[in-house]
Amino acid sequence: NRIEWDLDEIERGGFPHFMLKEIFEQPQTLENTMRGRVILEEGFTKLGGLNLTKEQLLAIDSITITACGTSWHSALIGEMMIEELCRIPVEVEYASEYRYRNPIVSPNTLVIVISQSGETADTLAAMREAKRRGARTLGLVNVVGSTIAREDDGGVYLHAGPEIGVASTKAFTSQVVALALFTLKLARLRNLGIERGREIAQALLRLPGQVQSILDRADEIQELADQFKNAHNFLYLGRGYNFPTALEGALKLKEISYIHAEGYPAAEMKHGPIALIDDLMPVVVVAPHDSVFDKVVSNVQEVKARKGRVIGITTRDEESLAGKLDYEFRIPETVDMLMPILASVPLQLLAYYIAVKRGCNVDQPRNLAKSVTVE
Ligand code: G6P
Repeated sequence: NRIEWDLDEIERGGFPHFMLKEIFEQPQTLENTMRGRVILEEGFTKLGGLNLTKEQLLAIDSITITACGTSWHSALIGEMMIEELCRIPVEVEYASEYRYRNPIVSPNTLVIVISQSGETADTLAAMREAKRRGARTLGLVNVVGSTIAREDDGGVYLHAGPEIGVASTKAFTSQVVALALFTLKLARLRNLGIERGREIAQALLRLPGQVQSILDRADEIQELADQFKNAHNFLYLGRGYNFPTALEGALKLKEISYIHAEGYPAAEMKHGPIALIDDLMPVVVVAPHDSVFDKVVSNVQEVKARKGRVIGITTRDEESLAGKLDYEFRIPETVDMLMPILASVPLQLLAYYIAVKRGCNVDQPRNLAKSVTVE
C-alpha cells in the first residue's frame, strides 16, 4: 500500500535500490566499524568485546573460521591475514561442513564465526558444535543481539547498520575490516613491530576516503555494465589476497543477475576454466600492484592468447599490461591485506548495474533469502 511504499522510499534514501544505497554507504560503514578501535600511534587496536585476556590471546595455537556465503569469503581473507601477520595456522570451513565433520579442537583453539545476520542456521550450529568441543568462540556479527552474538564467548560487532539487500555488500567490507582489526591486535601482541603496525593502522584509516574515490567514478562501471550485460558467463580471477575477491565478485554477479560466473585463483584457471575462454568470454582480473602482480600478468596473457575479453582492476600504469586489457578500472593502492576491500567495490557495482540493465530484482533475487535459518 501507499504508506508502506513511501516508507520504503524514505529508507532507500533516494537510491533506487537498497543494494545501491548500501554500496554507497561503505565509506561511512567502514568508519563505523573502526570507530574508537584504531590506535594509530601504537599501531594497535582496541576491541572491547573479545572477552579474552592477553594470556589467553597469546596462548591461541590454532584458529578455525567458519561461515556461509559472502561471510565465508571474508573468512578466506582473514585466514591469509592471520597466517601472514600472526603466524598461527588457520583453517576456513563452510559452517555446513564443519558441523558434521568431527573437527579437531584443542583448548587453545579459537573458533571465529562470521555472520552478518547472526542467525544463519548452519553457522549457529557450527558455533554450538565448536563450543561443545571446548573451543573458545568469537563472533563477528552485524546484527546486535542476534542469536550468534548472544551465544558466542566474545565478539566484534561490525556496526555496519541494517543491511536490507539480499546480496551482502557493506557487511562484507566491514567483516574484512573487523578481521584486520583483530589480526593487528593479535599480531602486535605476538611478534609484529610497531612500524609495520602503524603502517597497517594508517592504511585502515585511509580506506573510507579511498572507497569514496571509487564510488565517485561509478559511472565508469555503469558504462562497462552496458558492454557486458548480455554475456552468458563470466570468469573472475585473482591471486593471493584477491583470490577471495574473485570468488566474491563472481558470487555477487550470479546472485543478482543470474549470469553464470566463476571465481578462480588466476593460475589454477589452466586446469579447467581456460577451456571455456573464447572471444565472448568476459574475464575480470583483479590485478593490483602487489606481491603477485607479475604472476597475474602472465595469467592475463594466457586469457588474451585465447581471445578472452579482459576487464582489469588495476592500481597503476603498468608497462607489462600494455595492450592486454580490453577495459581497465583504476583503484587506489593500499597494503596487500586490505586490497580486497577496495577491489570489491567496483565488482559490487558491476554486478549491480548489470542486474539492473537486465531487469532483475536486485534487492530480492529469486530463490535467495537474506538470512537462511533452515539447514
Ligand atoms: C545468505 C545471504 C548471503 C549471506 C549468507 C550468510 O545466503 O543471501 O548474502 O552471505 O546467507 O549470511 P550471514 O548472515 O550468516 O552472513
